[in-house]
Amino acid sequence: MVSQEFLQELPKCEHHLHLEGTLEPDLLFVLAKRNKITLPDAFPKSIEELNVKYEKFRDLQDFLDYYYIGTNVLIKEQDFFDLAWAYFVKVHKQGLVHAEVFYDPQSHTSRDISIETVTKGFQRACDKAQAEFGITSKLIMCLLRHIEPEECLKTIEEATPFIKDGTISALGLDSAEAPFPPNLFVECYRKAASLNQDLRLTAHAGEEGSAQFVSDALDLLNVTRIDHGINSQHDDELLDRLARDQILLTVCPFSNVKLQVVKSVSELPLQKFLDKNVPFSLNSDDPAYFGGYILDNYIQVSKDFPHWDHETWGRIAKNAINGSWCDDKRKGDWL
Ligand code: ADE
Ligand code: ZN
Repeated sequence: MVSQEFLQELPKCEHHLHLEGTLEPDLLFVLAKRNKITLPDAFPKSIEELNVKYEKFRDLQDFLDYYYIGTNVLIKEQDFFDLAWAYFVKVHKQGLVHAEVFYDPQSHTSRDISIETVTKGFQRACDKAQAEFGITSKLIMCLLRHIEPEECLKTIEEATPFIKDGTISALGLDSAEAPFPPNLFVECYRKAASLNQDLRLTAHAGEEGSAQFVSDALDLLNVTRIDHGINSQHDDELLDRLARDQILLTVCPFSNVKLQVVKSVSELPLQKFLDKNVPFSLNSDDPAYFGGYILDNYIQVSKDFPHWDHETWGRIAKNAINGSWCDDKRKGDWL
């Protein structure tokens, strides 16, 4: 098994990280107090109680119910800055060099907080992370798939200035997967892509949904990356396609265990992906809820795949770099 020092030193890129999913229980209670937000009666009353709840979720929806309550404590631009900055402070000690991070504007605009407030707070933290730690980053705006597509089109309209000026680098799709297939969002993706030819497209698919959701995201939404994608393992033709077109799967080991998608990290089809030349990166998804940041995920995978040598890990790190949406000059810093 490779050493933890080796994994620490590997230049790591994160492609699947929800900024709202970095809200640690201590900051959640601090912000609730600062903003005078009353949490629901049934919500755990202390950091300790909340940590007990976070030990296991029944499924994706059980987690999302807590995640959306958490987002309610974020009100001011400074709150969004504080949240993202706390994330960068943690991961700069874990060998992270580049982060392409999701955020969910609709979980804030639904509470009358403007996209501008949210985006500016997060962007300010990204700028500071580059200045102080040399970590580059990109913002990916996600649409919540449980929200009506017509509403999502309005969100894209509100986000248009940030899509046009490149502050938002990419569009993603998250929240409850199984009831809301990719075909519902064709018009949203078409509209967003028409606003800026450099806008990148990705979508959560194949986390709880089937391999068909992955194919549909590629065919109907024109995405060039798939978030999670682990259910692609059940469709050999799809795996051939992912390998041929070098579509990056952003796999989230701790998340898949905590949301009971798999029983243990060793069940993940990572060896199959390597054997079939399907590129994947390792990511933390919602680290405050799932118990580990990026290096913790790398270490856990190294324990569950102990036969992987330095060369295999080098290949994984290179796939993550090559699958990033930064320019070749920046990639050259790490390759
Ligand atoms: N929102 C935050 N984390 C998510 C996940 N793992 N799947 C879908 N939506 C999410
Ligand atoms: Zn996710």
